[in-house]
Amino acid sequence: MTDKIPQDIKTEMEKLVQELNYHNYRYYVLDEPAISDAEYDRMYRSLKELEEKYNHILPDSPTQRVGAPPLEKFRKVRHAEPMLSLDNAFSFDELREFDKRVKKLLGSGKDVEYTVEPKYDGLAMEITYRKGLLLRASTRGDGAEGEDVTHNIRTVKAVPLKIEGERVPEEIDIRGEVYIDLDDFERLNKQRTEAGEQPFANPRNAAAGSVRQLDPAVTASRRLYLACYGIGSVKGISFRSQEELVAWLAEARFPTPATFSAVSGIEKVISAITDIAEKRGSYTFETDGAVVKVNDFGLQQRLGVKTREPRWAIAYKFRAHQGVTRVLDIQGSVGRTGVITPFAVFEPVRIGGVTVSRSTLHNWDEIERKDIRKGDTVVVERAGDVIPHVISVDQSRRPGGSAKVVMPDKCPACGSRVVREEGEVAARCVSLHCPAQVVEKIIHFASRGGMDIEGLGEKNVELLYLRGLIKHFEDIYRLRKEQLLELPRFADKSAQNLISAIERSKHTTLARFLFALGIIHVGEFAARLLARNFENLKRLYHVSPEVLMNIRQMGEKIASSLTTFFNDKKNLDLLDVMVRELGLRIENPDYAQKKGEKGPLRGLTFVITGSMPRPRKEVEELIEESGGHVSSAVSGSTDYLVAGEDPGSKLAKAKGLGVKTISYDSLLKLIHAKKEEHPRLF
Ligand code: IVH
Repeated sequence: MTDKIPQDIKTEMEKLVQELNYHNYRYYVLDEPAISDAEYDRMYRSLKELEEKYNHILPDSPTQRVGAPPLEKFRKVRHAEPMLSLDNAFSFDELREFDKRVKKLLGSGKDVEYTVEPKYDGLAMEITYRKGLLLRASTRGDGAEGEDVTHNIRTVKAVPLKIEGERVPEEIDIRGEVYIDLDDFERLNKQRTEAGEQPFANPRNAAAGSVRQLDPAVTASRRLYLACYGIGSVKGISFRSQEELVAWLAEARFPTPATFSAVSGIEKVISAITDIAEKRGSYTFETDGAVVKVNDFGLQQRLGVKTREPRWAIAYKFRAHQGVTRVLDIQGSVGRTGVITPFAVFEPVRIGGVTVSRSTLHNWDEIERKDIRKGDTVVVERAGDVIPHVISVDQSRRPGGSAKVVMPDKCPACGSRVVREEGEVAARCVSLHCPAQVVEKIIHFASRGGMDIEGLGEKNVELLYLRGLIKHFEDIYRLRKEQLLELPRFADKSAQNLISAIERSKHTTLARFLFALGIIHVGEFAARLLARNFENLKRLYHVSPEVLMNIRQMGEKIASSLTTFFNDKKNLDLLDVMVRELGLRIENPDYAQKKGEKGPLRGLTFVITGSMPRPRKEVEELIEESGGHVSSAVSGSTDYLVAGEDPGSKLAKAKGLGVKTISYDSLLKLIHAKKEEHPRLF
């Protein structure tokens, strides 16, 4: 195609790509835009039009950042050089010891030159460039092998698509951290909460969750940044020191650490760290420490690596962020089991870049112990997570006439009696009709570890409950799209998305379902344990404590709570309704011993080829859960070849060997038909 493009058009396209990439760099890396957004958009559109008209796209064209289709799963990528982790120092004395070790190993008493940079709290990445062009991006993973997230990383505007400058290596693995700014993190969590989704616990999780998305469009919708601080394998260029490397990274248009210094001797390192600690509050990103590295690469080489940490670097960890604020009120919130947990409402305060306006006080004894009162001035601490804690009360600033907090005797949600059992710290509302408990139960039912219904978080459950559309969790499966459309938060697409997510959740596992039911003391671990030991739900009906106590790791409390649950006719009726009338399909891949012996596909071997309507992994799991065996190559012992679109050479081989070929749909039918023959689950 290229030959047919007139030379002047080619030059024009090259110029547009170059300029757009330059302005992108000014905006996202330097934070110094040189043109208006409208001008940028105009150039972008011209480029796009030329690309379409001449059917030609330059490899570093900015139009290629977005638009890649969703993946089925991430490919694995082996790092040419392992991605290491860092040893930690929690005090300046520990840093001085690190310096002593370095000097001893080098056999010299002379001051060592170190670099100091902030430690970014995000997700470690390796980005490979070949002949200057972005080739591949992968996560750190276990250090040896990570996941291929190239399409997602392309959408991060601070990531150069091409290495600029005089010195472009043949191939280089750039190492850095992908992170999200604190403001964007807060905005994202607000959006998620409003959409009824679970907010991220901290900026690191938000960055990791955004990069590990199968659909690059989701990553593109998040504002992610990059800070580069190292390299892995490299060909065609060499650096003498960290300082030289960082200078080259900046010249090549990579974003580098916000603060960087090279200093001689550990005391100067300490003052550089103090400087970063002081700047910490004004950084746009979350940092939990500073990274100290021996500057000279030759010396780094001599010092080497111990297991997974280099001897030439250390991370100095900051203390958690603290702030001072006033307690406006102390209230109680009711959980799904009726436990009333106290929490404090604060005058909003920025702590380490995040606005804090409330915190849990854990239990009523804790309030008593710390003597926290309404109107008190308190020190609040925020560690890595956003959830803050009250550290201490400034008694000297307590307003006159303040009273001790007492445990409420009425439930704050329904006004029923509150009881506190002997020896328990928890105060509990014992009403079966307490709306707060019901709402919490439904939220738990739909949560990620439970039925995993995306879009059915706190806000939406509250709304649906208030409107009387769901009174108990099984009502979720009776919701209709028209009902959702009448609600203020739903438009056609969001209503359809929720209905589809509910539909998808019907196909679940016994472990998830048991967890979702919210039986007291049955968390994810206990639910999995039960699933391993009971073939299906029916087998738990009328279970006795003796049977349960025979299971290793099963505690008395769990056994008794389960027996109470499964011996209640109302509960069993509800389960029957869910399975028989509402169409839940509960599989049990966890059932350990008999797995594969009893499933409808037992004794059958399958090979999968071509693209499937469902992720490949899911199809494999479906076959294995049903007792079948999945093999990677067609042979005489293959029973079925499951073929999708673009099947490849396996199809011809199967035909040659007379192996039956079926589609994904026929596979489902086969499982169904075999199940009818031997009803196993319900
Ligand atoms: S250097 C051997 N520099 O911290 C060198 N790491 O705890 C290891 N990190 O996996 C990396 N900011 O994800 C380095 N300025 C920085 C860093 C940094 C954040 C992360 C990185 C690494 C982890 C180790």
